[in-house]
Amino acid sequence: MMLVLGIETSCDDTAVALYHSKQGLIAHNRYSQLELYNEFGGVVPELASRDHSSKIIPLIKNLLKQNNFELLDLDSIAYTCGPGLIGALLVGAAVGRSLAYALDIPAIGVHHMEGHMLAPMLEEKAPSFPFLALLVSGGHTLLVAVKAIGEYEVLGESIDDAAGEAFDKTAKLLGLGYPGGPALAKLAEQGHDAVYKFPRPMTNRPGLDFSFSGLKTFALNTWESSDKSEQVKADIALAFQEAVVGTMLIKCKRALQQTGLKRLVIAGGVSANLALRAKLQTLMLENDGEAFYPSIEFCTDNAAMIAYAGCQRLLAGQNDSLAVKVYPRWPLFNLPDLH
Ligand code: KG4
Ligand code: ZN
Repeated sequence: MMLVLGIETSCDDTAVALYHSKQGLIAHNRYSQLELYNEFGGVVPELASRDHSSKIIPLIKNLLKQNNFELLDLDSIAYTCGPGLIGALLVGAAVGRSLAYALDIPAIGVHHMEGHMLAPMLEEKAPSFPFLALLVSGGHTLLVAVKAIGEYEVLGESIDDAAGEAFDKTAKLLGLGYPGGPALAKLAEQGHDAVYKFPRPMTNRPGLDFSFSGLKTFALNTWESSDKSEQVKADIALAFQEAVVGTMLIKCKRALQQTGLKRLVIAGGVSANLALRAKLQTLMLENDGEAFYPSIEFCTDNAAMIAYAGCQRLLAGQNDSLAVKVYPRWPLFNLPDLH
């Protein structure tokens, strides 16, 4: 049995969680820095580090207090150590590692994308291994064949913009603010079907890689040559979303055929997109398979997923040395398995 404190500070959320190996998730909390970036249109790394520094300790204290725990109740600590913004990662890693040292308990650095990938395990209906994972966040777009924890084969990835990045950039040029993914998805609900047809990049050739950067240019050109009405904006948002979702559908279908896998996990910030969830769920139903995704609160960055992933590795006897190490560009899934 193990009570794990999870810490996530890789980007613009300061997040903490308590996960118990037997009881499951006990509580989690998150402070979003979004308001800080209103005037900048995106995350400012130095501001992110400073804000994590001032928020992380009160967040941990409150989480423990609100759930009637003390620091001494903790058995171990799991913190995100990459990939992400270096200064932001350092805050969570330094706090997590030093706290574990002071308490004389083990600590482990967790790969942020492994955290996202295992987030559906926090749900009542959790996937069993093996499965295909579509990981779509602000920084990554990956198709991974997952045999077990740490046994990952990356089948495809984005050669340019990540899916969330493409949403954010397109939203920005339509004047929807940051982060634009949720705003663009909401606007798409007002769009009329089939007014515009965007391309499905890299689907007419074999392979499982993605390319999304052309779609924002397509959106910009469509917008510039339109009458720039609110309806056009919504129609573009819908056409863009359909192109991204349609592309992912084609690649997932291909990957499922290639691997023979019957379970699909969709995770990462973009997995909060309801159109994407619906399309992939239908795909799996049609193929006698099943789709799994985290509840909306665990799609975007959170510490529950980090505590969960860390707990599995800690239970297998893994932990990190006393050095505070972070990996802003951690080679994907260059991770040990649990044996
Ligand atoms: O996983 P996440 O919180 O952070 C990273 O690890 O990058 O993902 C954030 C990304 C942002 O690009 C955001 O625009 C996108 O997820 N996102 C969405 C939706 N909700 C969040 N994209 C499309 N539709 C959504 N509903
Ligand atoms: Zn993330």
